[in-house]
Amino acid sequence: MQSPLRLGIAGLGTVGAGVIRIVERHAEMIAARAGRPVTISAVSARNRTKDRGIDISAYGWEDNPVALATREDVDVVVELMGGSEGPAKATVETAIAAGRDVVTANKALLAHHGQELAEAADRAGVALRFEAAVAGGIPVIKSLLEGLAGNRIGRVMGVMNGTCNYILTRMQEAGLPYDEVFEEARRLGYLEADPTLDVGGIDAGHKLAILAAIAFGTRVAFDDIEIEGIERVTIEDIRHAADMGYRIKLLGVAQMTDAGLEQRMAPCLVPATSPLGQIENATNMVVIEGDSVGQVVLRGAGAGQGPTASAVMGDVIDIARGIRLPVFGQPADTLVRAEPARSAVEAPFYLRLELEDRPGALARVAATLGDAGVSINRMRQYGHAGQSAPVLVVTHPTSRAAMDAALTALPGTGVVLGAPFALRIEDV
Ligand code: NAP
Ligand code: HSE
Repeated sequence: MQSPLRLGIAGLGTVGAGVIRIVERHAEMIAARAGRPVTISAVSARNRTKDRGIDISAYGWEDNPVALATREDVDVVVELMGGSEGPAKATVETAIAAGRDVVTANKALLAHHGQELAEAADRAGVALRFEAAVAGGIPVIKSLLEGLAGNRIGRVMGVMNGTCNYILTRMQEAGLPYDEVFEEARRLGYLEADPTLDVGGIDAGHKLAILAAIAFGTRVAFDDIEIEGIERVTIEDIRHAADMGYRIKLLGVAQMTDAGLEQRMAPCLVPATSPLGQIENATNMVVIEGDSVGQVVLRGAGAGQGPTASAVMGDVIDIARGIRLPVFGQPADTLVRAEPARSAVEAPFYLRLELEDRPGALARVAATLGDAGVSINRMRQYGHAGQSAPVLVVTHPTSRAAMDAALTALPGTGVVLGAPFALRIEDV
């Protein structure tokens, strides 16, 4: 058997501890599959004495994670600290420069610095792998890089933030308002330390940016994603959507259009009977459409210790086997800068309004939508007690620009109370 592949693990939190558990529990099986043992030489975290439920006494210790990257007894640096800057970035950059292979679960780092890191990895001739960064335990990166490599990808979609899907599912099932379920998610420990990363759609946006780069051979372009969070989704929206046979999901879509690369992460309506409409709680789902394969649906746990460590270990074992894949599916210097297309693809929209209940109010709304180029398909006023009436409009397919123009103009009608709220109805 060949010499062992020696890991240096930076970060011993949820994922890092999970990786150590797998390496220790499945040592023999991994050695058989990889053709060589996988061992741990050294680890790093902030606090050496913290009880992590794992015994790290057999491993070398570094106070500074960057020092792992240059240790003679480390072949692969496994970065599991998180954050797009600071120690995570410094550790990965140093590892690449020192000729070490790198495995990371850090979507923020790749979404912000993926291109420069991929170029550095290519120059150094090292692997940079990140299966765990997108949709946790689902092998979606590997599917795009390998199994689907012969396809021209038309569209990649996904529900990739388990916390948001949990919140939306709970609102639907228990009939609870957003704020109440948000607090429940916090109590259950689902939310990131900064919850806006989850509910603001940023975490899911990081993942979409990474997938789009591989799917379309483009440079990672997180800043070009149109991102909207789930904070404005109300229990009424959930009920109205259900009445029409839809579910509301925080859905990411990346699609190459004639106008350029469209990337959006926003709550939208999807058919309740579609695979995406049926995923519940913290589960993730990624849908890939290729010209030869058709539609491929991948579903599984998007977070948590076991699933995320499973993805990290898949990358580690590939490296132990000597498998080398281009970071984003082709040499980094051949990835093109895609023209961003801001919602070029038209879609019907769901529009929720609160109207003054007086003669001519609906007519003014209809005229304003018409002036913006938005055509009404269905309109419904819900039962109400007071002076205002909840009104729901479903439009014919329209552009995001026309819908934005309508949203800007509607408050000026003098009959719309509060801010109108629009959600795209996605054909999935
Ligand atoms: P975590 O539980 O917060 O653990 C972070 C670890 O990094 C801790 O062990 C911490 O040390 C260590 N650390 C932080 N700053 C450090 C520094 N300056 N020097 C050395 N060590 C430092 O995070 P996690 O949930 O395991 O996530 C790790 C990565 O995986 C992140 O990029 C995350 O986005 C990604 N990810 C996580 C999941 C998930 O389900 N958790 C899923 C997919 C991807 P101490 O323990 O001593 O404080
Ligand atoms: N906060 C993320 C989620 C964790 O809820 O899906 C995994 O990236």
